[in-house]
Amino acid sequence: MEANSMTLVNLAVSSLFIFALRGLTFPHTAHRSNLLGILGMCLALTLSLIYSPQRFTVLLVIVIGTLIGIFIAQHIQMTQLPQTIAAFNGFGGLSAFLTAVCAVLEDKIDPFDTPIGSALGIFTFTGSLIAFLKLQGLVKDNFSFLTQRLNLAIFTVMLLALLDYSHLPNNNEFYILSAFAGLLGITLTLKIGGADMPIIIALLNAASGLDSAAIGFVLGNPLLIITGALIGVSGSILAYIMCKAMNRKLLQVLFSSKIEKLSYSPHPHQEVRTGSPSEAAFIMENSRKIIIVPGYGMAVAQAQHTLQQLAEILHQKYSVDVKFAIHPVAGRMPGHMNVLLAEANVPYENIYGLTDINSEFSSTDVAYIIGANDIVNPLAKTDPNSAIYGMPILEAGLAKTVFIVKRSLATGYSGIDNPLFYADNTIMLFGDAQKVTQEIIKNLEHQQ
Ligand code: TAP
Repeated sequence: MEANSMTLVNLAVSSLFIFALRGLTFPHTAHRSNLLGILGMCLALTLSLIYSPQRFTVLLVIVIGTLIGIFIAQHIQMTQLPQTIAAFNGFGGLSAFLTAVCAVLEDKIDPFDTPIGSALGIFTFTGSLIAFLKLQGLVKDNFSFLTQRLNLAIFTVMLLALLDYSHLPNNNEFYILSAFAGLLGITLTLKIGGADMPIIIALLNAASGLDSAAIGFVLGNPLLIITGALIGVSGSILAYIMCKAMNRKLLQVLFSSKIEKLSYSPHPHQEVRTGSPSEAAFIMENSRKIIIVPGYGMAVAQAQHTLQQLAEILHQKYSVDVKFAIHPVAGRMPGHMNVLLAEANVPYENIYGLTDINSEFSSTDVAYIIGANDIVNPLAKTDPNSAIYGMPILEAGLAKTVFIVKRSLATGYSGIDNPLFYADNTIMLFGDAQKVTQEIIKNLEHQQ
């Protein structure tokens, strides 16, 4: 009876997680999906509490975890979400690793799942830690001395230790495998630079799911197996989509020994053309078609609501056709721009992906690039030495007039200068994304 009711609850929880994931596909169902996910998690925690022989310890851990979770959710800025997700991935990996260590200490010998779960767990933990430091801007170097050979050597030691352990499980092999997996997480992620960070984050996400699934087998916990598999598979699909979007091959990202060179730097006397919000407003109100290209700076400035206001006034008062163009890796996490624009109620039908919008730039009067940099950098097409070479870009430079809103000529995430700033049809609007857009709106409201 007990086993039957447990199976039923497991099934209910797994279904809730699956429906939650499914609903996250669309902005209008995302909120309800989150609630379903929360309900599933509450049920899963209640289940652990009821069936655990150490209820007090489990309750204590749940209360501490909940308080930490609430504190983090209330205190992080929207722009810190990507590194927070990286950290959460890492803690998932750490818990899988520690569970595997407990299994080994309790002599629960398992020739396959325990070492795999442990290796993936510690790999996820150290890799996510480095990803966190990079996204937080605390580690900037790409450590080009960490070569393909070194990573392959570490990987080979791991394989040998795993083979040895699966023949005759012994603790030394287990700890060697775990130590080298942790090292690989560090060396692989430290080396990732340029535009490849989104891919490694998706991969770490997948690893955090797969290690939970492996540990689910060790503990005989079907819920952990199902949820781990869900995360593992969705993370792997995301990594695949990211690779396609960035025109990269996964092995190339992980084991490429190419040393990135910052090939382009502007000529010391090269000058940019600067403009004012009133000039921008004048050109915009006399346009027929405008494409807005948001990037990470829009998220920093929280300019999404102001942008929607700009689009509305241009459309309603001046009959301009306004579209939003989203690059798959704009911002710092998958779907970053989509989430922010949905929050500002930008109609879904006005938002276009890279492949759908690129052919339209050449017939566009104005490209309004706001807080974006790498995703419109033409070097991705022209300079084989550049770290972003091969990444598809939004062809905003083809518009008749290009406005770029940012605070300086500083580089973006990849650290590469952008020749588009110096193009003849580009006008730089220096300043905070939100303030500059507000100024343009003021001018548009007062004209006519
Ligand atoms: P970036 O290339 O990073 O450029 C953002 C620009 O925003 C910066 O150059 C910055 O210039 C400007 N900015 C910052 N704060 C601003 C503010 N308050 N007002 C106006 N401008 C501001 O961003 P992107 O074009 O969105 O490209 C994304 C990059 O991040 C890619 O290289 C991508 O590979 C990487 N990445 C993406 C992800 C995912 S999954 N999306 C994850 C990790 C890394 P100023 O300082 O001069 O203002």
